Amino acid sequence: MTRILAIETSCDETAAAVVEDGTRILSSVVSSQVDLHARYGGVVPELAGRAHLELLTPVVAQALIEAGVDGRRPGIDAVAVTAGPGLIGALLVGVSAAKAYSLAWRVPFVAVNHLEGHLAAAFIEEPHLEPPLLVLLVSGGHTMLVAMAGPGRYELLGQTIDDAAGEAFDKVARLLGLGYPGGPAIDAIAMEGDPKSVTLPRPLWGEGYDFSFSGLKTAVMTVLRKQPDLHPADVAASFQEAVVDVLVDKARRAALDIGAKGLCLAGGVAANSLLRERALDVCIESGLSAFIPSRGMCTDNAAMIGAAAFWRLDQSGPSPLDTGADPNLRLF
Ligand code: KG4
Ligand code: ZN
Repeated sequence: MTRILAIETSCDETAAAVVEDGTRILSSVVSSQVDLHARYGGVVPELAGRAHLELLTPVVAQALIEAGVDGRRPGIDAVAVTAGPGLIGALLVGVSAAKAYSLAWRVPFVAVNHLEGHLAAAFIEEPHLEPPLLVLLVSGGHTMLVAMAGPGRYELLGQTIDDAAGEAFDKVARLLGLGYPGGPAIDAIAMEGDPKSVTLPRPLWGEGYDFSFSGLKTAVMTVLRKQPDLHPADVAASFQEAVVDVLVDKARRAALDIGAKGLCLAGGVAANSLLRERALDVCIESGLSAFIPSRGMCTDNAAMIGAAAFWRLDQSGPSPLDTGADPNLRLF
């Protein structure tokens, strides 16, 4: 049995979890900094770093207590942390703390790629997922179609050529005066809107596996300038429909092209109600298994980092203690 303390501080969630053998979550604590950044309309990197510094020790303590492990002799076999990609100041707080715990407890240190954490998330709730899988990874910084042959074995099929899907949600929410974080705000207001009320483009429709969302955001801006009286709920619903149409169509085609057994959602945007509903519909129509993690497992958390660390330890062993935080860390 391998019990891992995992830490995640790549953006605006301070999170710690204790995960056993990559799938059993003994504790998972997520402290969101939403209130801190909301008044600025987005994440302020400097504030995020300072807040992680204040919050991390209590968050780790809570994760250890909830997992029923003793802080002095914690019964932890390894300490894992997100080493990138993310905000450098934010990452550094988690990486430094994880190294300190690893040294103090004399247990291995494991540096994890945040994207690998998102890819591992579905396996926590469905440990018997059968590959090959097509994963649609949609977060604030990334939009990718990944063919997954098994833990740690991936191929990138396509990605965004400009804005990430989550970034587009956040920017359009700002245009609509819905504040930060934009994704959940659009999700909520879109329920009262008519998705057919505004005609918006479906960028790169039917063209390969890459995505483009910056033109869609500009299209929303133009529509709002020309028709300022439009109801925000209608604009939000039309925008969400356009994004989800493109995401689901490309994911479906990619899944069928690679002969995937299932389609898996990952990343913060996978918490979106319409995307979850449409992904399920498409799986039923196409004879694919649907793996849609719970919302809390889609957005940033440390349990997914603990799951990915279990694979990493198994495949590559511990990371050297001189591994640094890397804001541009790549998985592909
Ligand atoms: O994975 P995540 O928590 O952090 C990153 O790794 O980026 O994703 C955050 C992104 C944000 O852009 C946020 O607006 C979006 O996920 N998001 C959503 C929803 N919940 C979070 N987008 C659409 N609908 C949601 N319900
Ligand atoms: Zn993330």
